[in-house]
Amino acid sequence: MNFKLKIWRQQNANSEGKLVEYAINDISSNTSFLEMMDILNEQLIQKGEQPVAFDHDCREGICGTCSMYINGRAHGPQKLSTTCQLYMRNFADGDTITIEPFRAKGFPVIKDLCVDRSAFDRIIAAGGFISVSTGQAQDANALPVEKHLADASMDAAACIGCGACVAACKNASAMLFVSAKVAHLALLPQGHPERKKRALQMVAQMDKEGFGSCTNTYACEAECPKGISVANIARLNREYLGASIASDETI
Ligand code: SF4
Ligand code: FES
Repeated sequence: MNFKLKIWRQQNANSEGKLVEYAINDISSNTSFLEMMDILNEQLIQKGEQPVAFDHDCREGICGTCSMYINGRAHGPQKLSTTCQLYMRNFADGDTITIEPFRAKGFPVIKDLCVDRSAFDRIIAAGGFISVSTGQAQDANALPVEKHLADASMDAAACIGCGACVAACKNASAMLFVSAKVAHLALLPQGHPERKKRALQMVAQMDKEGFGSCTNTYACEAECPKGISVANIARLNREYLGASIASDETI
């Protein structure tokens, strides 16, 4: 398969970027998107040009590191998929593919397709630790949790912190990410002691990092590779409201 690539090239956060065109030919349909980028980079290095900087790690949809905006969609055209789970057979021979970094004020560009997502780490850190000592591994039924709560918590915990929800949102809102992190702990007994403090502090840090507000377009849910539901945003709003009206002593 042959493709024309239009890739965002930007030397650093302070320089201007632009789309640069590259032709890449004789690519097997079973090549993954990131392998195609590796092949392009080998060709660029052989020509004495700078390879394209892009983030990747596990290459199996677990770590959330790969973060490309492909043909106007976070992680590209395939639903419930990260960029590393995308294959060239998802495109047609001869396609032009535009590849950009995730764009958001809270995710400044480091170089080319790499953005700084440490804002997410700071939001997680603002949530703090849980104080419950879990001790040794317990019998599965030692601490009964209703199944629907356990299921909802585990679904929220599937968030890999990739940032596609922010990139897909016209407001660059991080609400889906923050709601997943708040919900997965709020739904389990171990997460209850710091529940109010966690919601208030994570939302405060989210605002401080420059992410926008949620205006219910659901673009985040549509593009999330892990199918995180916007029902978590409703839960975050309830958690936040409950914590806001609680007295200081209970927080
Ligand atoms: S909610 Fe979905 S899109 Fe957002 S960071 Fe988590 S896994 Fe990625
Ligand atoms: S490289 Fe880990 S999720 Fe894509």
